[in-house]
Amino acid sequence: MLSNLAVRDIETLVHPYTNLATHRETGPLVLESGKGVYVYDSAGKEYIEGMAGLWCTALGYSNQELIDTATEQMKKLPFTHIFGGRSHDPAIELAEKLKEIAPVPISKVFYGASGSDANDTQVKIVWYMNNALGRPQKKKIISRLKGYHGVTVASASLTGLPNNHIDFDLPLPGILHTSCPHHYRFAEPGESEQDYSSRLAAELEEMILREGPDTVAAFIAEPVMGAGGAITPPDGYFEKINAVLAKYDILFISDEVITGFGRTGNMFGTTTYGMNVDTISLAKQITSAYFPLSAVLMNDKVYEVLVDQSRKIGTFGHGNTYAGHPVGCAIAVKTLEIYQRDKIVEHTRKVSPTFLRRLEKLAEHPLVGEARGVGLIGGVEIVKDKVTKAPFETKKGVGPKSVFFAQEEGLITRAMGDRVAFCPPLVITEAEIEEMFDRYERALNKTLAWVKAEGLLAA
Ligand SMILES: Cc1ncc(COP(=O)(O)O)c(C=O)c1O
Repeated sequence: MLSNLAVRDIETLVHPYTNLATHRETGPLVLESGKGVYVYDSAGKEYIEGMAGLWCTALGYSNQELIDTATEQMKKLPFTHIFGGRSHDPAIELAEKLKEIAPVPISKVFYGASGSDANDTQVKIVWYMNNALGRPQKKKIISRLKGYHGVTVASASLTGLPNNHIDFDLPLPGILHTSCPHHYRFAEPGESEQDYSSRLAAELEEMILREGPDTVAAFIAEPVMGAGGAITPPDGYFEKINAVLAKYDILFISDEVITGFGRTGNMFGTTTYGMNVDTISLAKQITSAYFPLSAVLMNDKVYEVLVDQSRKIGTFGHGNTYAGHPVGCAIAVKTLEIYQRDKIVEHTRKVSPTFLRRLEKLAEHPLVGEARGVGLIGGVEIVKDKVTKAPFETKKGVGPKSVFFAQEEGLITRAMGDRVAFCPPLVITEAEIEEMFDRYERALNKTLAWVKAEGLLAA
């Protein structure tokens, strides 16, 4: 029986990333409040937020310092834009802080309001820069299958997932996708992680040579793939990719929208994987998701081209109204202060072994083929046959079913096909991690019983 709120939801909303047809029957999960790593639905049921919202509420819910900061900034100056050279203290302070903590030398910061628009900015800067440099043919951007970079026209093109392309007439021409670096799923039998990484780097090089190196401008990658299934890269991957990019003068964009600010056990995933990048996209944990804000960090090589171009043609014609919103910037400054004061990276490293131990233990379950993570992010892959790695038919929805049972058990997590992700708020304690995985183990057992009852193992 659907609640009154659920009925009103169905009658009024088109939900992002939702099966719009089944939603009409199942209705929404209506959340009402949150505290720490817990959220509560409209009936008062408690859940551990095992996905930190959408990989973003690093400091958990009801953080009073962030609420106070937002309130104070709202009272002082709720809005001013930064077009035409206007500015404000929080935007400047945040940019200084970001430059200070950035994993590679950064010259300047360009603000936006979402991860998607940050990546659109990246695409536009790459195109603009190469026109400015007098090489208009050097425009192609290489992304990866299963990479996730957003949903706007350009960022959805970078995204390498079918549902973001089918019937949207995407990807745009000139955006290419190289192989997904998922050793469990795509390595040859017996192929080591290092050998697999070498093969992927060679494939990337072949693609560049096939397209013509003077037509390929940039490569974009998430340090850990998020929406593609919480996939950590194989050993040696980024080192080998870096070498190929350097050989052909190809700009490297790190999409740290999920991995930025402690998630992988370093302040940035770029550091965790030794990536030598030119620009970085940031969002989500930059404000612990208490306000929409994103940032593109660029090195001197990129910035100098933009300035030179302004000397020639005038205005840098890009940016949106809420770029550098003072409330968002003030919250971000406070968030970064809390991360440093409360040693969030150290905390992540301290609790990560418990997270990884419990995550990896899930691989003992009859339904789990792979369980792997880093820091406080990871994923499991549900399979029909652990020996052959044979998957269930996607349309049977076994992964989503386990997420449904997890919800019954008081845990919010997310299925991407039959991969299920865990990405709790970074403030989670060891005891809460144990509780989170206890709940998911119970959900997996219910899933196994359901799979058997449905006869899916034999099918
Ligand atoms: C790596 C990555 N890039 C970009 C985005 C898009 O961010 P947004 O949803 O804020 O547009 C996401 C969202 O999950 C992401 O995970």
